[in-house]
Order: sequence, then C-alpha cells, then structure tokens
Amino acid sequence: MNTIEIIKKKRDHKTLTNEEIIELIGWYTGGMIPDYQFTAFLMAAYIQGMNKEETAAMTRAMLFSGQVIDLSMLNGAKVDKHSTGGVGDKTSLIIAPIVAAAGVYVPMISGRGLGHTGGTLDKLEAIPGFRTNLSLKEFISVLKKCGAVLAGQTNEIAPADKLIYALRDVTATVESIPLITSSIMSKKLAEGIDGLVLDVKTGSGAFMREKKDSVKLAKSLIETAGAFNKKVIVFITDMNQPLGTHIGNWLEVVESVNVLKGEVKNDLYELSVVLAGAMIYLGGKVSSLEEGKELSKHLIENGNAFNKFLQIVKAQRGDISYLKNIDRYPKPKYKDVIKVNESGYLSKIDNYEIGMAALMLGAGRMTKEDVIDPKAGIIFAAKLGDKISEGDIIGEIFSDEKYRLADAMKRILGALILSNKKPRKTKLIKQIIIGDL
Ligand code: URA
Repeated sequence: MNTIEIIKKKRDHKTLTNEEIIELIGWYTGGMIPDYQFTAFLMAAYIQGMNKEETAAMTRAMLFSGQVIDLSMLNGAKVDKHSTGGVGDKTSLIIAPIVAAAGVYVPMISGRGLGHTGGTLDKLEAIPGFRTNLSLKEFISVLKKCGAVLAGQTNEIAPADKLIYALRDVTATVESIPLITSSIMSKKLAEGIDGLVLDVKTGSGAFMREKKDSVKLAKSLIETAGAFNKKVIVFITDMNQPLGTHIGNWLEVVESVNVLKGEVKNDLYELSVVLAGAMIYLGGKVSSLEEGKELSKHLIENGNAFNKFLQIVKAQRGDISYLKNIDRYPKPKYKDVIKVNESGYLSKIDNYEIGMAALMLGAGRMTKEDVIDPKAGIIFAAKLGDKISEGDIIGEIFSDEKYRLADAMKRILGALILSNKKPRKTKLIKQIIIGDL
C-alpha cells in the first residue's frame, strides 16, 4: 500500500495492519512524506479512532524510530512522570529534583507546548542558556551526575514523536486517546525506565474534559505500559482551573522555584509532593505513597530539592543566577490587571480559554514556525470557590506586544462564571489507579 491508500483506509474506518503503521511512521520520520499528507492521516485517525492493537503498533513504531536508552549501568531504580497536559501544569520542574534528591533516577523526556497547554521544554528553555536538545551521551552524563535530566525528543531518542507532536500541535489533532497514548508512551518507553507515574488531567483545561474520557485514556496508557512490562501508577487530577497561579514559560519557572524553596504551599505544591512521592515509592525508597509524600515535603523543607534543581539546571548549561535572583530576568513590555466587573463566588472557569489567552499573549504557538515569548503569560490568583467583589483585581497579564492584551483579557473575563451560591469544593486528586503487571 502507498501513503494515499493507508490514509484512505483509516478515513474509511478500517483497521490498519502492524506493517502499514510501521511503514507510515517510518516514511514520515524519514522525510519521505510531506506534512500535509501526514496531517491527513492524523486527522483520519483523530476522527475514526484506532483500536488497541493499532495503538500498540503505533507506539512501537514511534518508540523504535529511535533508540531505547540503556541505563543498566546505573545502580538504582529509574522512574519518570508524565502529565497528559494542562494549564499552569509545571509539576515536572518541581518533581524531578525532589525525586533525584531522594536517590531515585529521573530520566525525563518531555514535550513542548501542545494545543492550549504549556510544555516542559518551553518552560525550561525560558531559563537563559538551558539546553533541552541533548545528545544521548550528554543525556546519560547529566543523569549520572545529577540523578535527573530534563530533555526533549531528539533524532536519536523518540524522533517520530518529535515530528508528530509538533505537527499535531498546530493541526487540531491533539485530543485523541490513541494519538496521546502513542505519543506519551513512545517517549517514556525510550527512557529505559523501571516505573512511570502518569498524571491524567480531567476538566475544562484538559484534553479530556469529561472524567469518563480521562479514565479511558488512563486505561489505554496502563494497557500500553503493561504490554511493555512497565509498572505504572495513574492519578486522575483536576484541570478545571489553572494549577498554581502562574501560566506562561518564565512565570512557571518562577512559581516552581517558589515551591521548591518551600515559600508557596498551594495546589501546585500539594500535587507535586503527591506525584513525587509516588515516584519515590515506585523507586523502592519508601514503603507507601504517603511515606513518599512526606519525604518529598521534607526534601523541600531541608533545601535539598531546590539545590538539586540548581545542580540540574547548571549541568544543562542554564544560568542559575536568574533562579537565585528572579528579578534579574527581563521584564515584559506591557501588562494589565485582571479586574472582575461583578460580584459573587467564582463557580466555574473555562480553563481552555485561560490556556488560549496565554497562547495569544505569546506563550505558545499557532504555527510550527512561531517563536515563543518566554515572558508572556498570566498570573491568575483566584481559585474556584473564592468570593470576589466587583472591581477586585485577581491577576495580571503580560506580553511584549500591546495589541495582544485586549483579546487575551476578553477571553479570560469571558471564561469566568460567578454565582451567588458557594460552589462545592473541587477535589484535586480524583482517582488513583495502580496498574498491575
Ligand atoms: N503529552 C504528550 O507527550 N503527548 C500528547 O499527545 C499529550 C500530552
């Protein structure tokens, strides 16, 4: 079969064979198919779906587009965490140093911003000098030295995901269970890990808005991890409001530093210590999730987690003087305050709109060629259930381009629903699923 016939087959809701999927991924990764044709395939897969076998074949083809890192020379468990994507979700920056400080290796391969959500690589690259494009040799060297490494897909590691991820970001083909599963698992399986913690988001700022769909995604991820013999714990967590208060690349680094220094103890802190605790548990350093969480808190309090973050950033050529003194960072040219023009309890946030507003301010991409402004973004200080009075200032927006402010502000204010009745408290962690092997 040729490319057009494979696209047609998926378009017509037929099941692709293992060989067809391997060929297609190989052709695209090898530069033999143009973006427009692969986009047509992605859209067909998005609309028609893929079954369990097709998803496993796609994951395998994407995984073996590059190498599986051999970390057998490291004496100790290797565990990673991945989130399905959210607004203000910066836990990776906090978790990796905590877990490394606990003595569990973290070989983390992350992605860039995807759709309306931010990406770990873009956040890290907001730190002047920070390199995410590491060779395999550099990846292993940082991991050995620091106990954690935070890098991106490369031509050696998960190259198919590097290409497909960037294409999905700008072609409205993100919110698909098989495409998300193969993207996440192909990177994670390439890392040579023993265990994986997955943070599957649910709510208006997630790719799966409904909890039932998030559970389906969790099951698909667990099934795929099981097929490759990996231990996995899945947390289904809330994404009906931004996680923490800062959205946008440098702003998210700032909030991560504040949490790592023990200066902020908000929902971001809560989720970070839970997820880090689960990784430490999977790494065999503690005997329960609760003990892992307590150890994570302790590693923040005694300064080890922040010091570990500085060590990792330095090893990846980032300038740590900006982390020690965040006021050194260049300031955005323009800002405005988010002022609410009614009173009531904040009862609903369309968190997708908040993510899109950050993107419009310059924090994300609309085309593959767009260049991100690391200073752009939002500080959104209100939380669901807060009582707000007309005229209250609940945050700020930042951009280097003045014309972007008004549209972003309109989106943010339009995303908020206030009511007279106090809404029920939202649960941050909605479900924990432990995958069996
Ligand atoms: N994270 C990924 O790595 N890929 C997706 O498709 C979604 C979230």
